[in-house]
Amino acid sequence: MIPIKTTKEIEAMREAGKAAALVLKQVAALVRPGVTTQYLDEAAREIMNAIGVESACYNYKTGRRQSFPGYTCISINEEVVHGIPSDKRTVREGDIVSLDVVIRKNRFIADNAKTVLVEPVSKEVRDLCKVTEEALYLGIAQARAGNRVHDISHAIERHIRFSNYGIVDQFVGHGVGRGLHEDPQVPNQGTPGTGALLKAGMTLAIEPMINLGTGHTIVSSDGWTAITRDNKPSAHFEHTVLITDGEPEILTTT
Ligand code: MF3
Ligand code: CO
Repeated sequence: MIPIKTTKEIEAMREAGKAAALVLKQVAALVRPGVTTQYLDEAAREIMNAIGVESACYNYKTGRRQSFPGYTCISINEEVVHGIPSDKRTVREGDIVSLDVVIRKNRFIADNAKTVLVEPVSKEVRDLCKVTEEALYLGIAQARAGNRVHDISHAIERHIRFSNYGIVDQFVGHGVGRGLHEDPQVPNQGTPGTGALLKAGMTLAIEPMINLGTGHTIVSSDGWTAITRDNKPSAHFEHTVLITDGEPEILTTT
């Protein structure tokens, strides 16, 4: 069942979205060579405290894994998603750092992510990030009442296929609201005209995860961090979006 948010709930989602975007923006500004992912995570926690929101990552539990120990997910280079912040992981020149920020405010959750370049970054990795972000916006453009979920998926896939990158299929976008992962799943590839019908009031986290090499990933021994199977870099961009009767509304903007 895909929740349709009421006007009041949508207002709360807008507030959550603004806060999530603000935290992501402020943490992204701190990414530079020499900082650890733990430092970035602590900064995120402090920003969340200061604006009165809580992390929806911290202590997040799924069936088979231990609860998530960080306030954000920080995934560097070959790490795709769900990287656990660590004082042993230092950002270096040439890295790409995927920051994933999920906050809860007034019982509603918003989820957003971006990959930050730590210059100088090679052209092939820069292009990977650019194309992944473009794919996100092409997917969002299909998030319209009357379309189907896989119209979003297909728009993402189509853009990525031009570049011969690997599309991650073990992790997907999702509905978001009272829960971090609500129905429907929003894959990053699919057949247009299929999947659930989109209706005004649905809120979706759309999140292409795109790899320079193979789309296959493995989960590392920490139980969370997903890594590309060929150790080539991966990019990740995500917004929480409201389906309306008109244009899609990106909720995770400041
Ligand atoms: N955007 C990520 C996702 O939807 C956020 C994960 S938070 C975590 O999976 F706590 F599950 F890691
Ligand atoms: Co997400």
